[in-house]
Amino acid sequence: MMTTRRKMTLPALLKKKKKGEPITMLTCYDATFARLLDGAGVDIMLIGDSLGMVVQGHETTLPVTFEEVLYHARAVARGTQHAHLVADLPFMAYQIGRDQALESAGRMMKEGGVGAVKLEGGERITESVFACTQAGIPVMGHLGLTPQSIHQLGGYKIQGKAASQAEILLNDALALQDAGAYAIVLEGIPEMLGHKISSALTIPTIGIGAGRFTDGQVLVLYDLLGLDPSFNPTFVRQYLDGAKMTQEAVRQYCEDVKSRAFPSIEEVFMAAEG
Ligand code: KIV
Repeated sequence: MMTTRRKMTLPALLKKKKKGEPITMLTCYDATFARLLDGAGVDIMLIGDSLGMVVQGHETTLPVTFEEVLYHARAVARGTQHAHLVADLPFMAYQIGRDQALESAGRMMKEGGVGAVKLEGGERITESVFACTQAGIPVMGHLGLTPQSIHQLGGYKIQGKAASQAEILLNDALALQDAGAYAIVLEGIPEMLGHKISSALTIPTIGIGAGRFTDGQVLVLYDLLGLDPSFNPTFVRQYLDGAKMTQEAVRQYCEDVKSRAFPSIEEVFMAAEG
């Protein structure tokens, strides 16, 4: 029987949570990978500000600008037919307040071709989340290890280990839900807390280093592909030895060029005869 795949929608994501069907999400930064991920059936693609690290080579996500995320969002949108697209609002594109958040979110939707924006933070950003959702802009929250606050957190450390901290994160999640967020990324928290927050919310949670019991999982695409063998933390599963495979292919190409094995007679254009 032929089944036609539809565009992933917010009600469909909510339905997945209700039915206990895990939601799949990956980061994506360009049209070529967008086509591949979309074809493989991923539910959500995130144009994450992690692009600052894996694409641009920065140490943190802080230098990433709004225009840079917008550029990558447009590329991903051009390669996507089915997946739901979310773009990060980068550092200082929404922290100034509600009006700035609304303006940035509106531009990202209008010019980036995405279906939602993601903002880091809890209680302190609920006014902005409410303003966006009232304007028809879906907002995904992001709690726990929030990379835009890396200096305040003192490094890439698991959050919510102490009971008091866990309580704050749970309240933040409930506050985001009340403000209208349709989903929340939970990053770098103990599994029990991921479970507790996911059970307390009616909206889906998507975990990264948040254990087995969140409503979905997200990974940075380049981590899944094993493109940086030196980066293999506990929460990452490398599904491909991408670094080795890429280097082997490039080495072979260089060898073939040097030995004149490439191009071969089958790979050249001939002038028309006669
Ligand atoms: O920017 C990003 O890639 C993210 C994911 C880690 C969720 O925010």
